[in-house]
Amino acid sequence: MPGAGFFVSIEGIDGCGKTTQIGLLVERLAALGLPTQLAQEPGGTAIGRLIRSVLLDARNRGIEPMTELLLFFASRAQNLAEVVRPALDAGQVVVCDRFTDASVAYQGYGRGLGSAAVQELNRIACGDLQPDVTLWLDIEPAAALARARKRESGRSADRDRMESEALEFFLRVREGYAHMHAEQPQRIRRIAADGSVSEVSERVMAAVLAALKARGLVARGD
Ligand code: TYD
Repeated sequence: MPGAGFFVSIEGIDGCGKTTQIGLLVERLAALGLPTQLAQEPGGTAIGRLIRSVLLDARNRGIEPMTELLLFFASRAQNLAEVVRPALDAGQVVVCDRFTDASVAYQGYGRGLGSAAVQELNRIACGDLQPDVTLWLDIEPAAALARARKRESGRSADRDRMESEALEFFLRVREGYAHMHAEQPQRIRRIAADGSVSEVSERVMAAVLAALKARGLVARGD
């Protein structure tokens, strides 16, 4: 692959089907012969996993919104240095399970810290690096919550600290994604995430292929 790599991030509220879709996307990119690196936020590195356990532990009810924001960026800084930048420098396609847009949506909108504070931190932690394309898996919060709660089959002890948030929180998070999408429609692609797994996977792959073709990284006929 010529030059620097290609940076894809995947976003959406909890229960949008992100994990399944990321697995399929990575498989499909590899099948095209594209060297692909998966990166995860929070938790894609050993240090990130430690930070993630603090963030998601349901017993940590006292975490302040600003503390939460800084911890997500601490994990992101480590992920960038250890995984994302080296892979991009090596010319790989990096598929990142969430990136700064998650902090804007969850902490900026969900927690009410505002997007300006998040952007300021982003500039310090990530400089001018941003995804080439972001796939926002959009689903109604009520439907996502129903999915997530079905998966855990009523055992609320399995719910992590973020997943325990109420519907209103996820409505604000979704509003954050919708706002970013409206502001940056070229980068942030809205994917309707309410179809079957294979339907959504087709939409995801079509959006990524279009972005790769626009950069000349796969042939236009593929
Ligand atoms: P994630 O590991 O992506 O969980 P899931 O696969 O269940 O969506 O993210 C864990 C939680 O952390 C999730 O509720 C979203 C939240 N989060 C933020 O609030 N801010 C952030 O910057 C990131 C990266 C995640």
